[in-house]
Formats: sequence, structure tokens, C-alpha cells
Amino acid sequence: MEKIQLGKSGLNTSRLIYGCMRITGDNSPSDREKGKQALRSAIEAGYNHFDHADIYAGGLSESLFAEVLKESPGLREQLIITSKAGIRAQDTPKAGDPKCYDFSRDYLVSSVDGILGRLDIESLDLFLLHRPDYLFNAAEVAETFMQLHRAGKVKHFGVSNFTPSQVSLLQSALPVPLQVNQVEINIHNINSFTDGTLDLCQQSGITPVAWCPLGGVAYSAWGNTFSAADEQRIENELSLQAEKYGCQPWQVILAWLLKHPAQICPIIGSTTPERIVAARQSLELDYSREDWYRLLEARNGEAVP
Ligand SMILES: NC(=O)c1ccc[n+]([C@@H]2O[C@H](COP(=O)([O-])OP(=O)(O)OC[C@H]3O[C@@H](n4cnc5c(N)ncnc54)[C@H](OP(=O)(O)O)[C@@H]3O)[C@@H](O)[C@H]2O)c1
Repeated sequence: MEKIQLGKSGLNTSRLIYGCMRITGDNSPSDREKGKQALRSAIEAGYNHFDHADIYAGGLSESLFAEVLKESPGLREQLIITSKAGIRAQDTPKAGDPKCYDFSRDYLVSSVDGILGRLDIESLDLFLLHRPDYLFNAAEVAETFMQLHRAGKVKHFGVSNFTPSQVSLLQSALPVPLQVNQVEINIHNINSFTDGTLDLCQQSGITPVAWCPLGGVAYSAWGNTFSAADEQRIENELSLQAEKYGCQPWQVILAWLLKHPAQICPIIGSTTPERIVAARQSLELDYSREDWYRLLEARNGEAVP
């Protein structure tokens, strides 16, 4: 699979990243086996970068991943392993505590220790702050990152769901480059095209990573505001383009994201081996500027001004 440099890290990431949010399913033995099979399929298909968060299935996604790592000695060294933290569940650590974001030093250090324990690895390749803490102190976060780096627990750092100004604020306090901003990008949510997120990524050499890339195509987008007529228009255009490019409509939508010069890396979250493998076809499409704008026009219901 095509690889690109992840930020300025020197690490080469597969252009498609595999997302581990759904791998445990309902945590039954059959769903867990399905999740392991999905991971094996992704590895076999050339995905070398796996995305986690401490909150996925309450940590069970990371421990299931560890089981697959153990199956193949030497596998860990071939992979880029990302995890995220900073979201504290309700009633944690004390009953009555609200759900909140927490970028305090103690919380982040203990979160990384938990992640490393569940993944059963010595160090994370990339650690991301999951969602911006309203109370985040850039200097404290920068010191925490450097402490984690010096301790050999984290090699590289990045953020998720950060606005451009939040990225700039944290970067201004950090002696090392932020490598990634992981944000929602799909046909429904195109905020990153216009709010400066992708501009800053291009300018600063940060890799934009797209979560839920198929939201609004394979399933309803988060906070869906599309009307039935919008969905029909998008579906019609996707069908036309899928026929033209000899692929499936959802592969067109991945090509639409991949076309952006900021080099968006979509995270594939399917647990179906055929889809995990077939997603690679989106990398092969010679997707045109005209079709990119046709799909935007179908999404917006009008031509660009
Ligand atoms: N940073 C953040 O805040 C954040 C938030 C959400 C997610 N994420 C990351 O992003 C990753 C991807 O998100 P996601 O799982 O929502 O991604 P996704 O790849 O957009 O969606 C996957 C879901 O769509 C279904 N699907 C995929 N292709 C389909 C098709 N052709 N037709 C019908 N259904 C299809 C899958 O079902 P099957 O499994 O049955 O194929 C699965 O339920 C996550 O795993 C996680 O790593 C990050």
C-alpha cells in the first residue's frame, strides 16, 4: 500500500490507517474473533498504522490488539501504533464526577501507563490528545509530553479534534513538532476544508487524519443534517462516478478525501475483511478535479459561487 511520511516524524504510514474503535463488537467470543480477523486482514492488506484510544470499549480494544500482536513475533516493530487519551468517563475517579476532558500531567501520564499496559508494549509511536480540554494549559501539556518522551514511553505526539488556533497554541509551547491532527472529515462534515485545519496542516507539515471518513455515505453522519433529498442527490452522483471509475460508491468517497493536497489519511473502521481490503482500490483511482467538484455540488445542492 502507498505510504507517506507521518508529519515530520520520519515514520512511513500506510495512507489508509486501520481504526480499532469497533474491533471488540459486543465483546462476545465471536465478535472478538471477528475483530482479530479484521486486524489480521488489515495487516495482510498492507495497513501498517493502527489507531486506538484508551476509551474504545473501555480499554478492551487495546487488549484485544495485544493478543494479535503476540501471535507474530517481530510484528510490533513493523507497525505504527497510535493511541489517544484525555477524556475522563463519568464517575471517574470518584462517584459523582462528571464526564470531562483532562490534560493534567498526572492524568495523562497515568493514561499512557494504562495504554502501554493494555497494549503490552514498551512505547507508543504516536500519542494524541483525544479532544481539546477547555482548561488545557499549553506549558503543562508540553512538559508532560517531554516527560513521556524522556521516559521512552512515547516517540511522537499529535492532537485530535483541535482547532487551528489550539494546534498553534500547543505547538508554540512544544520543542518537538506535532505530527497529526485527527479530525472528522467526510462528505457531511467538511469544516476542515474551510476552517483553516487543512491549511495549517499543509503549512506546518502536520498529517491530517480523517475519522469516520464514510459517515454520510455508508451510514448517517454524526449530527446528520442531510435531508432525504440531499442524500438522494449525493447517492445519484456517487453512483454515476462509481460506474465511471469501475468501483463502489464508498470507494469514490475515499478518493474524494485522498485528492486533497494536505494528504489526508482516512481511518478505515470496517470490521469486514472484504471492505478492509477493497478500501485500497480508492488509492488507485485517477480521480479528477471535475468529479471532485461535481460531488461537492451534489453535497451542497448548488454550484460553487
Ligand atoms: N478522534 C476521534 O474523535 C474519533 C472519533 C471516531 C472514530 N475515530 C477513529 O476513526 C476510526 C474510523 O471510524 P469509523 O469506525 O466510524 O469509520 P468508518 O470506516 O467511516 O465506518 C465504519 C462503519 O461503517 C460500516 N461500513 C463501512 N463500509 C461500509 C459499506 N460499504 N457499507 C455499509 N457499511 C459500511 C462498518 O461496518 P462493518 O464493520 O460491518 O463493515 C462500520 O460500522 C475509528 O475506528 C477510530 O479509530 C476517532
